[in-house]
Amino acid sequence: MTTTPLPQNPLDPRCFRDVLGNLPTGVTAVTAIDSEGAPAGMAIGSFVSVSLDPPLVAFYVGRGSRSFARIRTASSFCVNVLSSDQQEVCRALSRPDDEKFAGIQWDAAPSGAPRLAGSTAWVDCEFEQVTDAGDHLHVLGRVHSLDATPTLPLVFYQGGYGKFAPSSLVAIPEPDVISNLLHAELARAELEALADATATDCIATAAVGDQLIIVAAARKSPSATVRTRVGQRSPFVAPLGALYALARDADVETWAGPAALRLSAAERLAFAAKLDRVRKRNWSLTLASAAQRELETEYLAYSATDRSPAHIERIHELAHAASGDYEPADNALEGPRPVRMISVPVMDTDGELILLLSTVHNETRMHRGAVLDHVQRLQSSAERIAALVHANRIGAGSS
Ligand SMILES: Cc1cc2nc3c(=O)[nH]c(=O)nc-3n(C[C@H](O)[C@H](O)[C@H](O)COP(=O)(O)O)c2cc1C
Repeated sequence: MTTTPLPQNPLDPRCFRDVLGNLPTGVTAVTAIDSEGAPAGMAIGSFVSVSLDPPLVAFYVGRGSRSFARIRTASSFCVNVLSSDQQEVCRALSRPDDEKFAGIQWDAAPSGAPRLAGSTAWVDCEFEQVTDAGDHLHVLGRVHSLDATPTLPLVFYQGGYGKFAPSSLVAIPEPDVISNLLHAELARAELEALADATATDCIATAAVGDQLIIVAAARKSPSATVRTRVGQRSPFVAPLGALYALARDADVETWAGPAALRLSAAERLAFAAKLDRVRKRNWSLTLASAAQRELETEYLAYSATDRSPAHIERIHELAHAASGDYEPADNALEGPRPVRMISVPVMDTDGELILLLSTVHNETRMHRGAVLDHVQRLQSSAERIAALVHANRIGAGSS
């Protein structure tokens, strides 16, 4: 038998974590009332059911955990299986902080340990045994009472949160699919005309959940070599999709998503300035650069894969590096700059953003004036598409 040599040293901590991060885990919160009478708790992903007779459960805890030192001062603890709505609870309980319970609602389990509101299940235990397990402790608990209110549980995988859902629930909701297909169909002729008039590739993009998806495309760029862009998608993360962020009333926190925690004060201000600029302009501009190209290549790959959290994290990193190319200030457009994409919103009569209409450029060097000319063309096309969508709705209503 031949074995493939391991690509990296398996004892390297990063490699150890990355490889074992491929195992999805449920997330629990282990809680207790400490010897001072205060609630203590921590997020635990290593919880496991051990034995039915006697009823035993276990988890592993880092030796240095301050929260566990407090939990250990009690004789009982409660394991709360977190539901998919409890990401914030999980974040709060995994911070090294003594005030983890501020804002968390709970009542007392039969042992007195905190039972968190909204959990999928709770398991009330007394300490049976605590033994050494490398740099962790192996904690065995004897179960005294337990119950469940089945809701979809929180799942942790490759450093990201998700939820377990039967595959039938994972599909995009039908109304989203139908309305986007309809808008794409109605936009098609206008996209073709715009592509002809501007000799660029034109695309229509829809936001579906946390993704931006190209739903229609017309190709006219002389050097276009790629296959159709329809179906390409990227995660909806700052600095991508600023027009959608505004349509959803997102602030910097919401737009940046999980990356918000890592933003410096200066970066926060820069993102806020981008949103402000796009709000005033009502158009969006992406310049071309090596970093922007790298980001684009990554989200093309993302479209073709199963879109794992590790992939999304990589896009977050690259988006961060390329953020200077998105929504540049007016003074950055005084000299000609290589342009990648110009977008305008297509609004329906209720003021809802239904599509983004964009021209994709092969790094054409443009002044601000040329960009504005392009914006005007795009806006006229967007108005015509909006009128078609409106007429179609009236037609559907009266038939
Ligand atoms: C999803 C998730 C699972 C975790 N699982 C464990 C675990 O099984 N064991 C552990 O010791 N820490 C685990 N942690 C980390 C602890 O929650 C965190 O280190 C601890 O609460 C930090 O604060 P402390 O020093 O006050 O204990 C996990 C964190 C998260 C986000």
